[in-house]
Amino acid sequence: MSEVHVYDVPDEWAKRAWIDDAKYRTMYKQSLDDPEAFWGEHGKRIDWFKPYTKVKNISWDIHNVSIKWYEDGETNVAYNCVDRHLEKRGDQVAIIWEGDNPNEQRLITYRELSEEVNRFANVLHWHGVKKGDRVTIYLPMIPEAAFAMLACARLGAIHSVVFGGFSPDAIAGRIEDAQCAVVITADEGLRGGRKVPLKANVDAALKKTSTVKHVLVVKRTGGEVDWTPGRDVWYHEAAARVSTTCPAEPVNAEDPLFILYTSGSTGTPKGVVHTTGGYLVFASMTHQYVFDYHEGDIYWCTADVGWVTGHSYIVYGPLANGATTLMFEGIPNYPSMSRFWEVIDKHKVNIFYTAPTAIRSLMGAGEEPVKKTSRASLRLLGSVGEPINPEAWEWYHRVVGDHRCPIVDTWWQTETGGILITPLPGATKLKPGSATRPFFGVIPEVVDGAGATLEGATEGNLVIADSWPGQMRTVYGDHERFVKTYFSTYPGKYFTGDGCRRDSDGFYWITGRVDDVINVSGHRMGTAEVESALVAHPKVSEAAVVGYPHDIKGQGIYAYVTVMEGVEPTEDLRKELVAWVRKEIGPIASPDLIQFAQGLPKTRSGKIMRRILRKIAENEYGALGDTSTLADPGVVTQLIDNRQNRK
Ligand code: WTA
Repeated sequence: MSEVHVYDVPDEWAKRAWIDDAKYRTMYKQSLDDPEAFWGEHGKRIDWFKPYTKVKNISWDIHNVSIKWYEDGETNVAYNCVDRHLEKRGDQVAIIWEGDNPNEQRLITYRELSEEVNRFANVLHWHGVKKGDRVTIYLPMIPEAAFAMLACARLGAIHSVVFGGFSPDAIAGRIEDAQCAVVITADEGLRGGRKVPLKANVDAALKKTSTVKHVLVVKRTGGEVDWTPGRDVWYHEAAARVSTTCPAEPVNAEDPLFILYTSGSTGTPKGVVHTTGGYLVFASMTHQYVFDYHEGDIYWCTADVGWVTGHSYIVYGPLANGATTLMFEGIPNYPSMSRFWEVIDKHKVNIFYTAPTAIRSLMGAGEEPVKKTSRASLRLLGSVGEPINPEAWEWYHRVVGDHRCPIVDTWWQTETGGILITPLPGATKLKPGSATRPFFGVIPEVVDGAGATLEGATEGNLVIADSWPGQMRTVYGDHERFVKTYFSTYPGKYFTGDGCRRDSDGFYWITGRVDDVINVSGHRMGTAEVESALVAHPKVSEAAVVGYPHDIKGQGIYAYVTVMEGVEPTEDLRKELVAWVRKEIGPIASPDLIQFAQGLPKTRSGKIMRRILRKIAENEYGALGDTSTLADPGVVTQLIDNRQNRK
């Protein structure tokens, strides 16, 4: 291991921040010694229509997994994110929207947000949406995405946001699984000057599923779209017919707020269910302390609302805190490589939260596009989605932050609802590449393959030993799968699927997934999903997909494909397969490398030995380990000879 640079907490940070080191230690201890009292107190950070009397009610016993926080409380998320701010900050900007085109922007005050959300809720209500109904949202990064999410919350309806990069098939699967009757989309999206045919994708998806009664279409570009009368509705026309008042439906703390589909190691994506009270308490509290958010700060998270980071840290956490949250429609390198930094200067952003893959891709263009901007407003930087390599961390710190801004490397997952392991900028010294210490109430443990808990400086699999309020509650429609995926590997503990190292300071270093999930540019992909898309192609007989280290994306997708008898494995077929996977799942799943193989390494019982495929894809074919259990050890030599990641 190379030497680790340590960055101490600057004095002014320790003085000014919500939490310094002593406070961190006291509060962390309280949160573990008496979680009831701790979370009972912090639960009050949101407004309740009916206060809770019970705080925590958890069973992680695999025969009865049940997770309840604030279970007898009643509240409403939209009320907390909008209404309660009106008196004090009606005229404060809630959302700064920065368009793909730098000449387009919108500033939306809390008062305007309230009108928009109420109106949207009335439109949904008019189309039959009521408490408990599921609504699919397939929108670009426009303010209507936040309005739509909050409108669902206002009615007590459950939103399922589908990332705008997903294909019609992926949309259809998610609509079907959640039995959605309403879809909200836009005519087209706009990213990097290019149009994304959202409405056309929804049209194609709806040929494959029959639950949807209404499609509400937001006009974004004004591009041509097909229209199904009776089903399709222009949002602006419907909005003109409704009022801007709609009561916030009281919902129970444990009523679902949203479903968000995410990839696992097997099968189709799971509908992760988050509920109301605990989720909002956790999202808002982490947003305040991790980003050291103070009144008046301009905060920007570059994620897409199609991912959990967008849910918790563009919409719910910041708005619950009455913050000004920036929402960006575009991409980091359009119209120029300086775009992020120009947006920071234009809107005087203080807190900036992005993904390592964006940092690495911008690093490639050198320092000049950054250095020609001021960035004087910046105070804090954040990272999320995948491990950040120390080189990228140092560049982010030195070039973007001018050595001035601490970096919070936040580890969490769709399942965790909010950040679990992270520095707090006034409390935690920083080590580039380490997510450092647990947030309040979070008990990380390192276990070995057999489940034994490891103490001290060590390395193994990361589990969490007790619940926190933002934890997912179930897999939509499949509680068994929830139990099996997260609680059966290490009974009594939540299994994260990540590997990690703990150093002698007790700092955590996430080393990446230990299951068949890969992380491509911060997007989670199940290798099984890509495989099943590949084998659905008529010319493909078998496929095995693994991740390999990729300079910019973190991990790339490497596919081994065997073709049907009589099919020529040509360059054209390779292109056809890449296009096929893009169509089946979406562009984020495009294989980077495809190797045509005559056979795959299998055990005598027919199980594919992925360990070997991973090594070859990583170009580490010298260390394949034991291959003696293979049915045909000869395939390995062929695979090595034809490897695609030759260095
Ligand atoms: C990875 C995104 C290292 C990890 C919020 C996790 C990270 C998966 C970090 C969840 C980080 C996320 N350092 N790895 N700071 N943040 N990950 O569900 O492998 O899209 O399990 O949630 O991303 O991805 P998801």
